[in-house]
Amino acid sequence: MSIDLDRKTMILAIETSCDETAAAVVENGTIVRSNIVASQMDIHKRFGGVVPEVASRHHVEQITVVCEEAIRESGIGWEELDAVAVTQGPGLIGALLVGVNCAKALAYAHGIPLVPVHHITGHIYANRLVTELQFPLIALVVSGGHTELVYMKEHGNYHVVGTTRDDAAGEAFDKVARTLGLPYPGGPEIDRLARRGNTAIDFPRAWLEEGSLDFSFSGLKSAVINYIHNERQRGREVNRADAAASFQASVSEVLVKKTIAAAERYSARQVLVAGGVSANRQIREEMALAAESAGLPLVIPPLKYCTDNAAMIAAAGTIGFLKGRRADLSLNGSASLSIEDF
Ligand code: KG4
Ligand code: ZN
Repeated sequence: MSIDLDRKTMILAIETSCDETAAAVVENGTIVRSNIVASQMDIHKRFGGVVPEVASRHHVEQITVVCEEAIRESGIGWEELDAVAVTQGPGLIGALLVGVNCAKALAYAHGIPLVPVHHITGHIYANRLVTELQFPLIALVVSGGHTELVYMKEHGNYHVVGTTRDDAAGEAFDKVARTLGLPYPGGPEIDRLARRGNTAIDFPRAWLEEGSLDFSFSGLKSAVINYIHNERQRGREVNRADAAASFQASVSEVLVKKTIAAAERYSARQVLVAGGVSANRQIREEMALAAESAGLPLVIPPLKYCTDNAAMIAAAGTIGFLKGRRADLSLNGSASLSIEDF
């Protein structure tokens, strides 16, 4: 399907799928006029993870202010908007509903179209805020809730070629961090700790069947937990930095090799990496090296577009808008939603 990428657009997007209340205004799919994110991280930290009911309540408290701030900072008037885009799913249902209802109200009040967006397409399109996409491409989306390899042959066309069979990559980081006594979210903590450690422990790599582009992190997670218990039972002090470094090396190696294998299999002209885990230093470095030696252009968005935000939802929503994707006021949030339907 060909879409008119030259058409001028001004899109307000809303994202409330997890623990960030976010709104942004993006012009022509690539120019970020405003990007407001109210994070609840500190609130959930004391519970050691995101508490869904608490998240919904905070979204309700924040959403109006965040949307108004996004419009104010963008310098545009409500009448200049062409559409309101919103994350329909996947995510926490109570959290999603807050954003979806707000978007419906705004679309109705201003008489503009409502565009539903799949959260993962947002993570992928975060890359278009920094570089124009080249097709066909392979995108690795790694976050607290997702681990997906997505093949795209053109704008707005998504085909999942690999996914996790158990935990998401970020979830594995968070669970292993908790076992090591590190605070939530564990990814950045392991990232930091690993820099001081050696890959002294031989943790498994889950390659799965020959040629599979799927992932599995539960075996690795159990291996780390078993290692810690064994060391403690023997009265030895666990070297947490070595455990972190060895765990991270295993995750990084599998993510990098499978991403490059997917890119080669699908003759990709570009490799994208997105989602919170792409903030990881080792993964960024190893992905860059592997892409370079395979002769593949690699794009990883800056950190502010890697973690959940609404500018990425606006970027993906612009493509949905140009494709003619619309929702009416019966739109509902959906905890699980297939990217291939978008
Ligand atoms: O994309 P994101 O902000 O939210 C979701 O959509 O899930 O990703 C959050 C995840 C958490 O699991 C967090 O531990 C992980 O990204 N993360 C990292 C790093 N920074 C955040 N994982 C590894 N290394 C990091 N530096
Ligand atoms: Zn996300």
